[in-house]
Amino acid sequence: MTTAGRAAIRRNRDADWDAWPVARYLADNYRQMHPCDRGVIQHHSLFYRRFPPAGLARTLELGAGPNLYPLMLAAGASRHIDALEPGAANLAYLRRQLTHGPEESWTPFYALCKALDPALPATLGEALNRVHAVRGDASGLPDGRYDAASMNFVAESVTEDYGEFTALCGAFVRAVRPGGRLVAAFMERMPSYRIGDGPVWPACPVDETALRAVFTPRTVALTVSRLAKDPTLPEYGDTGILLLTAERPAP
Ligand SMILES: C[S@@+](CC[C@H](N)C(=O)[O-])C[C@H]1O[C@@H](n2cnc3c(N)ncnc32)[C@H](O)[C@@H]1O
Repeated sequence: MTTAGRAAIRRNRDADWDAWPVARYLADNYRQMHPCDRGVIQHHSLFYRRFPPAGLARTLELGAGPNLYPLMLAAGASRHIDALEPGAANLAYLRRQLTHGPEESWTPFYALCKALDPALPATLGEALNRVHAVRGDASGLPDGRYDAASMNFVAESVTEDYGEFTALCGAFVRAVRPGGRLVAAFMERMPSYRIGDGPVWPACPVDETALRAVFTPRTVALTVSRLAKDPTLPEYGDTGILLLTAERPAP
């Protein structure tokens, strides 16, 4: 506590990402398809359908967690998807899905992704063959490696420090080559949060103005749209979801 009695700002390294509660997170968010998932999938599918099928050599999912649907969506356009994740429990879950086959609960997600994008492989298993689970975080990203990058509920959901949020978004942008494309989703105005009755995870509330302030100087062709708050999700204190697309400018 500070002398003023307020808790100190919690930074990314202050949380134990290895201990992410995968089972509870999946149960609360991804075991059934929520209306907000449909909205994110529709938005991201439109983004990937702008590329020729398998037209991207290498793409990134930053902070993949245990969420498979962003990986499914990328498989229509990308020949090699790096699912970058720092947390041991999330990484173990991802690797099990890739090695032993995806859990049945992901089937409806793939059906929707495939209906929206016929360029996706015939089966979810084939789509996941393009995914490589990689241990790492945003700080270690090489400059310009990827043709496109995706980030879902990460930069605003892993720190209370706006400077660190900005740095994480900057690393996300720099991960793609000049001309490379970006797609992302952010919880809108979400404060630090709990999953079930577990510990508090650090977050910084962001709105469209905050996203534009961070991405306008770093990108071109920026679009930001929003989905209404989803009442079928646990109460995270958010006001909805913000969806972003952008492009890293030529130097
Ligand atoms: C709220 S979860 C979102 C997971 C997933 N992307 C999704 O769509 O549900 C935040 C994720 O960011 C990861 N993370 C935490 N710190 C990170 C960092 N510095 N760089 C990249 N990912 C990080 C966590 O381990 C966790 O998987």
